[in-house]
Amino acid sequence: MSLSIIILAAGQGKRMGSNLPKVLQLLAGNPLLSHVIACSKKVGADDICVVYGHGGEQVMASFPDPSIRWARQAEQLGTGHAVMQAMPETPDGNQVLLLFGDVPLLKPQTLIDLISAGGTDGAAVLTVDLDNPLGYGRIIRENGKVVRNVEEQDASEEERAIKEIHTGVFCCPASKLKEWLSQLGNDNSQGEYYLTDIIEMAVADGMTVHGLRADNWVEVMGINDKQQLAVAERALQLRRAEDLMAQGVGFADPARFDVRGTLTCGEDVFIDVNAIFEGDVTLGDNVRIESNNLIRDSEIGAGTVVHSNCHIEGAKTGPNCEIGPFARLRPGAELADTVKVGNFVEIKKSTVASGSKVNHLAYIGDTDIGKMVNVGAGTITCNYDGANKHRTTIGDGAFIGSGVELVAPVKIGAGATIGAGSTISKPAPANALTVERSRQITIEGWKAPQKKE
Ligand code: UD1
Ligand code: CA
Repeated sequence: MSLSIIILAAGQGKRMGSNLPKVLQLLAGNPLLSHVIACSKKVGADDICVVYGHGGEQVMASFPDPSIRWARQAEQLGTGHAVMQAMPETPDGNQVLLLFGDVPLLKPQTLIDLISAGGTDGAAVLTVDLDNPLGYGRIIRENGKVVRNVEEQDASEEERAIKEIHTGVFCCPASKLKEWLSQLGNDNSQGEYYLTDIIEMAVADGMTVHGLRADNWVEVMGINDKQQLAVAERALQLRRAEDLMAQGVGFADPARFDVRGTLTCGEDVFIDVNAIFEGDVTLGDNVRIESNNLIRDSEIGAGTVVHSNCHIEGAKTGPNCEIGPFARLRPGAELADTVKVGNFVEIKKSTVASGSKVNHLAYIGDTDIGKMVNVGAGTITCNYDGANKHRTTIGDGAFIGSGVELVAPVKIGAGATIGAGSTISKPAPANALTVERSRQITIEGWKAPQKKE
């Protein structure tokens, strides 16, 4: 039987206190809705339909994914009304799984279990027991069987004491769902078409609604405000750290670790506190990431150590390099093996070959550095003439003294030595000492200025 997944994402999310539509609020660096869509794909849906409304254009533009079907809910008249918008194009013969765009931590296996609990012609609802069920719909059971749901606002005091709540996740056959939705009313305290009323309709139809309890409340938590968003963020990050630890990655403290994208690790990787990984990051075997690092869309080679306080973006390092502390690798920085980049060094759009060192206070931009080169402290490449960028080339084994300015385009030969303090704007020959410096003089009888009375 084919599966349609319908994701409700039309609400404004007033409780977020934000201009951004709720489903675009970021969780682990990606919109809430993206987590629900990713989970839906893992469940193996044949058809994924997102119901959008509030901030519609912005929501659709955030997901340029041709496999998603969009249904517009012009007015937000309730969750039941939202599902109605998706039904005309949902095939009658399909099984339907309903999800909320603000319930982002669901695991695919839980949904697969729910679908099989419902069977091909039955219905199933995902529930969970909460110590504090405030705000959620309560599940009413009779003789252990699910008979209906009552929303917080419409519940009696007795019903409010029930701890089993509706997670919003429900599955049933499409043909039945269409029938029930057509009978839905809005005669309740909020004047909304409640999706949750279909539970009672299914039971009235003689159908068993299987109530599957999730074993973890975090997985089914709905995100309505910034506080819940923060709780979900920590929960998701911890889940990721646990997955990595299961693969053998070591952490100084898994609670101080953030991945906003994907992190792929080799064997025996160690990550110290406050490391943030964004986009796609790969760490090779035996990589050691020290404290307070931000690494975005980069590849760190096996055995490389990233010391504390580095900012690394769009860069690639080979094996056994040493980066930082306080280094900045910008997009297009490509280091071969055993390269050292020390404190307060910035490298952009440059290649650095095997064994070379740029150890202190340097700027290297648009440059190709050969093997076994030493770049002295305070050396910079002047790569920009105010209009265009130009390249610098430094041959194998060159020694660039401290405080040198390399005015690009310029070429330093292999084995060349550049004297400290030189401003080099013409080619420097291989295996020779090149110095550009005015003669040092001392002015006799010079008097230091005095402070005026
Ligand atoms: C809903 C359920 C409640 C459940 C809880 C679980 C109903 C009536 N209540 O309450 O039983 O315990 O979720 O988290 O279903 N949406 C639309 N169109 C609308 C209204 C909402 O698309 O007209 C979307 C929202 O964007 C959101 C989802 O539906 O993604 C849930 O809406 P929300 O207002 O957050 O419902 P809750 O009050 O949390
Ligand atoms: Ca909600």
